[in-house]
Amino acid sequence: MPLNIPYKKNKKLERIVEAIKRDKEIQQYWDSANIIAVDRLKINDHGKVHAAIVANIALKMIRLLSDSGLEPSIVKDHGMSKDDAEVVVVLAGLLHDIGHAVHRKNHAEFSIVLASSLLDRILKKIYVDPKERVIMKTEILHAIMCHHLDYKPLTLEAGCVRVADSLDAKEGRARIPFELGRISIHSVSALAIKDVKIKKGKDKPISVEIVMTNPAGIFQIDELIKAKIKDSGLENYIELRARVKGEDKGLIKEFTL
Ligand SMILES: [Fe+2]
Ligand SMILES: [Fe+2]
Repeated sequence: MPLNIPYKKNKKLERIVEAIKRDKEIQQYWDSANIIAVDRLKINDHGKVHAAIVANIALKMIRLLSDSGLEPSIVKDHGMSKDDAEVVVVLAGLLHDIGHAVHRKNHAEFSIVLASSLLDRILKKIYVDPKERVIMKTEILHAIMCHHLDYKPLTLEAGCVRVADSLDAKEGRARIPFELGRISIHSVSALAIKDVKIKKGKDKPISVEIVMTNPAGIFQIDELIKAKIKDSGLENYIELRARVKGEDKGLIKEFTL
């Protein structure tokens, strides 16, 4: 999947993502992450496609939150802009899993180490003020770190990346790592998720609707998506609904978070 990010009018985001598209080092981190995840561990994609999907979902979420009047943390706490918040979630989404290139175990920590020097190089092109560069770098590293359940997100941006990570679930891509080719509750439930729709909510800023081909998908929702939303800081901003496609009764379970 090409790296298609809707820039809207965010010039900083456009310049950074266009530079990343040409960056051979980052491409190789994504490829090496999947050598470990897919080839050696036989689990699902943690490379470029996953990175692009997570970055896109996180961007959509931070925009929905901003549109609803919420201030991103980098605006509230550092006086930076909404455009900067969008750069934070996209870069964190793109780099959150590169630590797999070292090892899956503790990969969030390895992602931090690898992303640190990459961010120094990438951010320098846009953020000439060292103060702003350090703010951007640390906010991005915070969001990368907090995609792991052991670390509580302390910013709206980090919450978006953590939840977005769990929502890369369409067409059998669900994020509980399962051994490819093996039949288990993990693989059956992952394959049951047909679609994930993220849009403006009716009562809350974000609506997440999960469409399943059979109710086994509930397992992914309970075990992963709900777990990632809980404690993300976004609990009060997301409506989560699940339904089985094609059945008359439609909505089989509605979650309140
Ligand atoms: Fe991860
Ligand atoms: Fe991930």
